Amino acid sequence: MSFALSRRGFLGAAAAAAGVAATGWAGGARLLGPGDPGLLLPSQVALPRPFTAELPIPRVLEPIRRDAGADYYEIVQRPTELEILPGLRTPAWTYGGSFPGPTILARSGRRSVVRHRNELDQPAVVHLHGGHTPADSDGYPMDLILPAHAAAHPTHHAGRDVAAGQRDYTYPNQQGAATLWYHDHRHGGTGYALWQGLAGFHLVHDDEQDALGLPTGARDLPLMITDRSFAADGSFRYPRAGAHQHGVTAPYMNGVLGDVILVNGAPWPVARVDAARYRLRLLNASNARRYRLELDPQPPGGDALVQIGSDGGLLGRPIAHDRLDISPAERFDIVVDFSRYRPGTRVRLLNRLGSGATAEVMSFDVTGPTGDNPPLPARLRTEPALDPARAVTTRTFHFQLRPDHGWTINGLPYEAGRVLARPRLGTVEIWRLISDFHHPIHLHLDPFLVLSRNNRAPNPADAGWKDTVDLRPAEAVEIAVRFTDHAGTYMLHCHNAEHEDMAMMADFVTE
Ligand code: C2O
Ligand code: CU
Ligand code: CU
Repeated sequence: MSFALSRRGFLGAAAAAAGVAATGWAGGARLLGPGDPGLLLPSQVALPRPFTAELPIPRVLEPIRRDAGADYYEIVQRPTELEILPGLRTPAWTYGGSFPGPTILARSGRRSVVRHRNELDQPAVVHLHGGHTPADSDGYPMDLILPAHAAAHPTHHAGRDVAAGQRDYTYPNQQGAATLWYHDHRHGGTGYALWQGLAGFHLVHDDEQDALGLPTGARDLPLMITDRSFAADGSFRYPRAGAHQHGVTAPYMNGVLGDVILVNGAPWPVARVDAARYRLRLLNASNARRYRLELDPQPPGGDALVQIGSDGGLLGRPIAHDRLDISPAERFDIVVDFSRYRPGTRVRLLNRLGSGATAEVMSFDVTGPTGDNPPLPARLRTEPALDPARAVTTRTFHFQLRPDHGWTINGLPYEAGRVLARPRLGTVEIWRLISDFHHPIHLHLDPFLVLSRNNRAPNPADAGWKDTVDLRPAEAVEIAVRFTDHAGTYMLHCHNAEHEDMAMMADFVTE
């Protein structure tokens, strides 16, 4: 895809943004090198041996009721003590008692109505990340569910919608097969809420996908990758700012990095796999940590990670990679053919951006051969087109640290109700996203196509429909987006959860 850019204006803006980075932050945080956005918060416990815990698979949530057009679910958000590290108790905030929360299996075109009851002692907000969702169910950061025990009357203050004790979120699922996830989205405290455990999968299936013969059932593994730190008593460590402040203490404002890597809530787990193809739905649900995922050993001939989908759903055709960079909130749907390994091989999933314990993620132990290993089709689907040449508007967003305001968009810290863009539904727009530092930028409501990076072709891993794009330091990324169907207020923000809480977020209104 090619699109004409004004080369001079574009690169000049990127260089100006880079200049901002060099000025640093009055709070004392230093800007770190590429690949290391954030500061390590070490655990105060002995770390467990890798590859001893078995990979947990989050349970699939049963609807409490179905009718002709919808499945109805109920999730109780509540404090729960989990055993994440052997022999230690970790108090967590959970969706339904587990971390990750239960998986919602949705059918394209069929509504999921999820009642969230809040039995935490904190207000909560739920967002379906990647969902094409009406604004009143999108989890605007001020649309709180107050704790059930404190609930009096639902109120509308400052024009926002505050619910008492529980709220029903309606997800039309009018989108193709995709790996979505739901998570907390409270204003100023999302990083802490995520760290405490409020995240789960929401998988959309459709007929087109089902006809492809992709690995299913026990060979379709959702993998939620997170990092965490633990205090001596087993609780999660997190450098929370004061009770009435947003985000984290100044040294951690670049992002909080843990030294324990969890997959589906278990430290460095092991999965026993047949010598066959598996679909791995990789989700980086970490607050700030980026990973460069690679299998070790590589299979003969390389190309181990065959990507079939990105954030927004299936690609047109598979793309083979040796390694994948995944920033917070991104998803890569990949197929790995373990029949390329000799049975008995331990295949480790490495993080080439980590060091020491964080350089490993999990392992796959290849068991016996199997007679049944269906091939992967060469074509996955006809990709819907979006022609950037038909764009009606170009908008520019600068993501930068400002000594006076923290993390900002176009120089402004988040303020509810301040609208940075008013895109018209159904029209194509070009958004130029310009960074000083690493910022995984996320748009609500609709996915987008990545057109260019610093005026050059995007990376192979930028293919397909994205809802989060990882901006590298001093980078200008152009995307094409078209918002459809739902008029209302939506969010644009950095998905480094600490940046998000410390104000790198903005409202846009579709109309
Ligand atoms: Cu995954 Cu606005 O968030
Ligand atoms: Cu989102
Ligand atoms: Cu950021």
